[in-house]
Amino acid sequence: MKVYRIASIPGDGIGVDVTLEARKVLDRAASGFGLEWTEFDWSCERYLSTGSMMPDDGLAALSSFDGILLGAVGFPGVPDHISLWGLLIPVRRAFSQYVNLRPVRLLPGTSSVLAGRSAPELEMVIVRENSEGEYSTLGGRHGAGEPGEFVLQESVFTRVGVERIIRYAFELARTRAGRLCSATKSNGLIHSMPFWDEIFAAIAVEYPDVVAEQCHIDALAARMVQAPDRLDVIVASNLFGDILSDLAAAVTGGLGMAPSGNINPSGSHPSMFEAVHGSAPDIAGQGIANPVAQILAGAMLLSHLGETAAAASVEAAVEKVLSDGAVLTPDLGGTATTSELGSAIADCLT
Ligand code: NAD
Ligand code: IPM
Ligand code: MN
Repeated sequence: MKVYRIASIPGDGIGVDVTLEARKVLDRAASGFGLEWTEFDWSCERYLSTGSMMPDDGLAALSSFDGILLGAVGFPGVPDHISLWGLLIPVRRAFSQYVNLRPVRLLPGTSSVLAGRSAPELEMVIVRENSEGEYSTLGGRHGAGEPGEFVLQESVFTRVGVERIIRYAFELARTRAGRLCSATKSNGLIHSMPFWDEIFAAIAVEYPDVVAEQCHIDALAARMVQAPDRLDVIVASNLFGDILSDLAAAVTGGLGMAPSGNINPSGSHPSMFEAVHGSAPDIAGQGIANPVAQILAGAMLLSHLGETAAAASVEAAVEKVLSDGAVLTPDLGGTATTSELGSAIADCLT
C-alpha cells in the first residue's frame, strides 16, 4: 500500500484547530493508501520561546515530504513581518511553489452575500503569483526621524516568474471555461504592470482557444461583486492575487470556506496546502472556527498526490454536511463547534 509522508504545521490561532479537523477527515478518506503524518510545532509560540519560527534546518526537514498541510502563521505578540517571513514565505520560495491556486465556489447549503447569484455564476479560480512581485525585501527606511523621512518598497517581476505563472493560468483556463482575466494596474504602476501586460499579450497569442482579457485591478474588484458570472480564471501578481482571493472568498462562502494550494508544478519540492484565511485572533481559542476551508485544502492535497477519488469523497462529504445544514459553525449561521463540524464531515466518509 502506498503511504504518503505528510508534514503538518498547525501554526497559530485557529490554524491549530482547523488542521486537526482536516487531519481527522483526511485519515478517514484514506482508502487504498495511507497518510503518515509528522507534526511540526513551528509557530509564534515557538518564536517567543526560542527566537525563531522554525529551526535553522527547517526547510531541509520539510523537503523530503510528499506534501505539507499548513494551518496559519501569525499572531498578535509577534510582528507579522517576522512570523510570515520566518516561515510561510521562505517555504513558498525555497520550494518554488510559484503558483498559489485559490479556487472558490458557492457550496450547497450556503448562500452568497450577492443576492440572487447561483453557484455556477460564482465559480472562479485565482492563480496568484506566489514567489516574487510586490512581496520583496528590497527597499528600506531613510532619514528616520527627519521631516523628509521616507521608505522605499521595491517590487521584483522577473520575465521567468511572470511567464510561468501566466502560462500556468492559460493552461488551466483551457481545461475550464476557456476564459482568462489578467489583473494589473498599468495606469498607476508604470514599470512592473506594463511588463506583465506585455508578457500576457504575447502568451495569449499561443492560446487562441482562450478568451484573454486584461483588466485593471480596481475595476476587476467591482466586477467581482457586480458581474462575477463573467469571470472564471483570474491571474494576478502576488499582492493583487492575495487581495482578490479574500474578496472572492467573501462573495462565495466566506473566508471559512476558501482553500488554497501553494503548488510547485515541477514536483521538485513538496507543495503546501492551507486555507486562504489566517489565524483569526478574534475567534482563536473559542473552538468555533469553520474548518471547511482547511478540509478542502486537504482535498486539494489529496488531489495533488493523485488520490483524486479520495479528494472527491472529501468534497462530497463537505457538500453533504453543508446541505443537511444541521451542523454548521457560527460563521454559517449555526452553533456547532469546529470539532463537531469536522466530525460530521469525517462521519460521512465511513
Ligand atoms: P484572518 O483571515 O485570520 O481573519 C479575518 C476575519 O475572518 C476574522 O474576523 C476571522 O474571525 C474570520 N475568519 C477567518 N477564518 C475563519 C474561519 N475558518 N472561520 C470563521 N471565521 C474566520 O485575517 P487577519 O485577521 O488579517 O490575520 C490574522 C493573522 O493571520 C495575521 O497575523 C495575518 O498575518 C495572518 N495570516 C496568515 C495567513 C497564512 O498563514 N496563510 C493568511 C492570512 C493571514
Ligand atoms: C495569504 C496571506 C499571506 C500572503 C500573508 C499572511 C503574508 O495573506 O496566504 O493569503 O499575503 O501571502
Ligand atoms: Mn491573504
